[in-house]
Amino acid sequence: MSIEKTRSGSLDDIEMASIDELRALQLKRMRWSIAHCYNNVPAYRQMCKDKGVHPFDLKKLEDLKLFPFTQKDYLRNNYPFGTFAVPNRDVVRIHASSGTTGKPTVVGYTQNDIDTWANVVARSIRAAGGHHGDKVHISYGYGLFTGGMGAHYGAERLGCTVIPMSGGQTEKQVQLMKDFDPDIIMVTPSYMLNLIDEMDRQGVDPLKLSLRLGIFGAEPWTEEMRKNIEARLGIDALDIYGLSEVMGPGVAQECLESKDGPTIWEDHFYPEIIDPNTGEVLPDGEYGELVFTSLTKEALPIIRYRTRDLTRLLPGTARPMRRIDKITGRSDDMMIIRGVNVFPTQIEEQILKVSTLAPHYEIIVTKDGNLDKVEVKVEMTPDARDADQQAATKELQHHIKAVVGISTRITVVDGGAIPRSEGKAKRVFDKRKDN
Ligand code: DLL
Repeated sequence: MSIEKTRSGSLDDIEMASIDELRALQLKRMRWSIAHCYNNVPAYRQMCKDKGVHPFDLKKLEDLKLFPFTQKDYLRNNYPFGTFAVPNRDVVRIHASSGTTGKPTVVGYTQNDIDTWANVVARSIRAAGGHHGDKVHISYGYGLFTGGMGAHYGAERLGCTVIPMSGGQTEKQVQLMKDFDPDIIMVTPSYMLNLIDEMDRQGVDPLKLSLRLGIFGAEPWTEEMRKNIEARLGIDALDIYGLSEVMGPGVAQECLESKDGPTIWEDHFYPEIIDPNTGEVLPDGEYGELVFTSLTKEALPIIRYRTRDLTRLLPGTARPMRRIDKITGRSDDMMIIRGVNVFPTQIEEQILKVSTLAPHYEIIVTKDGNLDKVEVKVEMTPDARDADQQAATKELQHHIKAVVGISTRITVVDGGAIPRSEGKAKRVFDKRKDN
């Protein structure tokens, strides 16, 4: 695809292709991708042999289910470069995700991979309503994390003017937003909240800034959070999804015209939803764990990668390609409270329903004897600090009990007492696991 075409604002041909054309392309690419991985990555070949399956067995897309899943362990056990399918000299970039424990997960890209990535991120920014000539302020972290550089190359590819801020230096971020008049901001939703607080602190009216669009991702966020951010900034807020093992940001992107969950760029990333307990493939529309197979990646082909993200596949709307519903959370983030499965996003939804509460929160889970106890720490909004705290806590407690089904203790803390995020927010502290 030529850079001129990308910048012209017209969609890529495949974004308008029929489902039949798309499925034919996917099958062709999937055959290539699985064979490429099998032939060049001994660890993957061994996994296939153990399962008694060979790339020739892929006759139709549904045959993908015959192949083994890959998980984080696949990358960890072959650390650092054992999953690469090309010689190291052909790898032009490395990224890694720190993870909480153990070795980082390392991913690599050839020049073609970097080009594909730039193209899908350019396509994503365009789907969000961006175009050639827009100024893009990027506050995703630059470095081993894929957010900053992934967004950066895509924005440049679309012909935007990039302001490569990275995360941190919050005071300066706001000052430069005031001075440089960006049209678009790309940042985690939790860091956006932090930036809005800083605007308030500096006496900057967010509604007077030049921003038109926000492209938010890298962590779960709710529809309520979208409304909150849109109202406070006077922008359209769109969801971008991705993960380093599959590419980085730009695996899926929400379209401005429909705002109904990210469209998966299925010409490069093939999705499945599985039952996380049995591994069985579920029909579109059912909730389960999202699994991806890369169709074009050279350096790190990844087949049936279990993301741990819980969502469902939905039919295409703004594009023929399928969408994902908003990610409920990662299976690792799920708290089991007295037998009830609870995700932080469910608590976030309820907090944002109470108009006097600010969208900053922490969830602390402890055990008292055999009983799980949940404390939700929240702040009041700056204008509501003197309002009736008791009424707010009662309302939140009631909503959580009625909708989520658990009893909680709500603690209102001073404004600013909840640590602010500069990237991905940490919201759950499950002290039961420390015991
Ligand atoms: O977070 C890539 C990225 C950067 C995506 C910037 C979007 C914007 P990782 O650090 O590997 O990569 O983390 C991937 O983050 O499996 C999800 O659990 C979560 N995640 C990413 N985007 C979203 C989203 C980047 N839009 C992990 N909604 C994924 C919910 C998301 N969760």
